[in-house]
Amino acid sequence: MDKILVTGGLGFIGSHTVVKLQEAGYEVVIIDDLSNSSENVLDGITAITGKRPIFEKIDLKEKADVSAFFQKHNDVKGVIHFAASKAVGESVKEPLLYYENNLGSLVYLLKELKELPEASFIFSSSCTVYGQADELPITENAPVKQAESPYGNTKQIGEEIIRDTCKVVPTLKAIALRYFNPIGAHESAEIGELPIGVPQNLVPFITQTAIGMRDELSVFGDDYPTSDGTCVRDYIHVLDLAKAHVVALQRLLQNKNKESYETFNLGTGKGSSVLEVVQAFERVSGEKLNYKIVGRREGDIISAYADTNKAKDELGWKTELSLDDAMLSAWKWEQKVRGK
Ligand code: UD1
Repeated sequence: MDKILVTGGLGFIGSHTVVKLQEAGYEVVIIDDLSNSSENVLDGITAITGKRPIFEKIDLKEKADVSAFFQKHNDVKGVIHFAASKAVGESVKEPLLYYENNLGSLVYLLKELKELPEASFIFSSSCTVYGQADELPITENAPVKQAESPYGNTKQIGEEIIRDTCKVVPTLKAIALRYFNPIGAHESAEIGELPIGVPQNLVPFITQTAIGMRDELSVFGDDYPTSDGTCVRDYIHVLDLAKAHVVALQRLLQNKNKESYETFNLGTGKGSSVLEVVQAFERVSGEKLNYKIVGRREGDIISAYADTNKAKDELGWKTELSLDDAMLSAWKWEQKVRGK
């Protein structure tokens, strides 16, 4: 049973991936600094899988602590690296915090992996690297555009750091996974997304509005050149996304990768407008959502959805869950968290 390190393993995507890794038979060690998560998530994971992952509370910016971790766990075979700050607006105000958090930790991890006899590394990247792509659906060959925010830039630079390192470290293999819009929760409602403060992302804002925490959803703009005028995104169920991490890791562990550094889009291939997401929520929850159309949000792209062929052909992975599945799971999670 290979030992896999999951950094940020108590976060939204991290916790769902830990579940899928354990279900696939891996031994999981989590590093998390609890800056945007809670130790209670360990209970949720354990309730689902019956197995409590090892947990080390470490701040990856502390180089000595990262080294000490790898001395203790010198049998780690693979790393899935989620730990990062992810609030776009905050990154604009605090760029150095984002560069230090997201890139300092990455460099320290790679320095340790370089010393291992063999290492497989999965990086949490984002479709944000494409900006507003010229062609839809977006393939992995679409050009990386000038980042809109320091957050987006940390994903671009992160990918470059890994690519450059793989070129010179023959024992290191890596995959960057470019997520489209992850939503939903585990169907058990034991784990899910827990945004701190007012959610910036669409789906948690919808469920918090429906539960009564927010008065109404503001739909940012209905005059875009799309089917109903609202922005289009590729919303992917977090459990489909979690499975893709296991598959990508296995590709590396089994030496099935074609290059030492590869990138894959993770999406459904289907674009949904903001209003379609609202309608899906209303359909599965039976609740009427209070919303109003307001002006555009600065920096929003019009439309983005993935070309999923590379992931299908190379990883043998595609999404299985629908937008409705995701919205229902997000709603069940919101109700559970608020004790309703
Ligand atoms: C945002 C980030 C992106 C990040 C991603 C992570 C921005 C500009 N981009 O992407 O860098 O990788 O989250 O999931 O913040 N919407 C509303 N009302 C709301 C919230 C959102 O209408 O209250 C709309 C947005 O205009 C957008 C869609 O819903 O069209 C999705 O928004 P969001 O969940 O914030 O994701 P992205 O903007 O795609």
